[in-house]
Amino acid sequence: MSEIDWGNLSFGYTKTNYNVRTYFRDGKWGSLEVSSEETINIHMAASALHYGQQAFEGLKVFRGKDGKIRVFRWEDNAKRLQNSANGILMEPVPSELFFKAMLKVIKLNEDFIPPYGTGSSLYLRPLLIGSGAQVGVKPATEYLFMIFATPVGPYFKEGFNPVEIQIARDYDRAAPLGTGHLKVGGNYAASLPAGERAHDEGFASILFLDAKTKTHIDEAGPANFFGIKEGKYITPDSGSILPSITNMSLRVIAKELGLSIERRHVMVEELESFDEVGACGTAAVITPIKRIFDRDTKQDYLYCKDGKAGPISTKLYKTLQGIQLGEIEDKHNWNTIID
Ligand SMILES: Cc1ncc(COP(=O)(O)O)c(C=O)c1O
Repeated sequence: MSEIDWGNLSFGYTKTNYNVRTYFRDGKWGSLEVSSEETINIHMAASALHYGQQAFEGLKVFRGKDGKIRVFRWEDNAKRLQNSANGILMEPVPSELFFKAMLKVIKLNEDFIPPYGTGSSLYLRPLLIGSGAQVGVKPATEYLFMIFATPVGPYFKEGFNPVEIQIARDYDRAAPLGTGHLKVGGNYAASLPAGERAHDEGFASILFLDAKTKTHIDEAGPANFFGIKEGKYITPDSGSILPSITNMSLRVIAKELGLSIERRHVMVEELESFDEVGACGTAAVITPIKRIFDRDTKQDYLYCKDGKAGPISTKLYKTLQGIQLGEIEDKHNWNTIID
C-alpha cells in the first residue's frame, strides 16, 4: 500500500483489503460476511446476468482537515438504492443494513482512505444483484448485496478544468418511462456506444437529449447537467435522469449563495444564453464545461472564454468540497463521521 501515489490516482479500481457481502435468501437477509476475494461466485442462471436485475451506488469517504473520516449523504444513496431495487423488482436493502455494511467496509479498509489534501477519496461501490437462478423472465428470489471500496482520484483526468462535451441525437440513454431515473446497469450499457464515440472524437462526455422529442437536455453522460445565468442555477427536470445527490446538494448551496433555483426543461437553444455550464456527480463534484459541440447541427456553444471555470461553478465546487473535507461548517448534517 505504501506504493499508492495518492495524489495521482485515476478514477479506477485499486485492490483494497476487504469487501462485505450479504445474501437475501428464504425471505430474509443473512449475516454480513467479510471477504478478501475480489470475485463472486454466482449461479450461471442468475437473473443479474441474463435480465439485468442489478443496481449499484457510488459514494465517497473523505479524510478531513481534522483527520476525521467523513461519508457524504449515505442515507440518500441508501434510499436511491431502495428506489432502484423497487424499480426493477429486486429486494430492497434496508438503510440499517446498508449502514452496517458501509461502516464495516470503511473500517476494514481505513488504510486506503487517501490523506487529506491529495484530492483523492475512498469510493464505495454498493452493488445489489439478483443472484438466484431464473430461466424465465421473472424477478429472482435470491439477492446478493455487497460493498467494495477503492481509492480514487478525480473522474475526469482534467480535474477541475473545463472539458468539451458533445450532443448527439442518434443514441438514447433511457426511454421516457423506462429506467433512466434508476441506477441500474442497463442504462450504463445503453450509454456506452455514444459515450465511447464521444471519447474517440475527442470529447470528455456525451450530453444526452430527451429520447422523445430530442429538444431538451437530459443527462451529461454519468452526471447531471446544470447551467448558470442571471443569478439562476438551472438544471433539467426529467423523469429519465438519475436524481443526483450532488445536484441536490448544489441546489441547496446555490440558494444559500443567493441564486434562485430552477428545475425545468432546458432546451438545446437555451445553451447559448448560459454564462456557465457544468456536469455534477459524486465522481467529479463539478466538471466545468467549456464547449458543447452539437454533432448534428455542427453548432458550438462556448464557455469559460479565459480557459478557466466560471466564478459561480468554482464557488459551488469549493463549498461542497469544503463541506466534505470538514473545512466548511456542515450546516445540513450531510456528513456522517466514522469513529
Ligand atoms: C447517470 C448519472 N447521473 C448522475 C449521477 C450523479 O449522481 P450523484 O451526484 O448522486 O453521484 C450519476 C452518478 O454518480 C450517474 O451515474
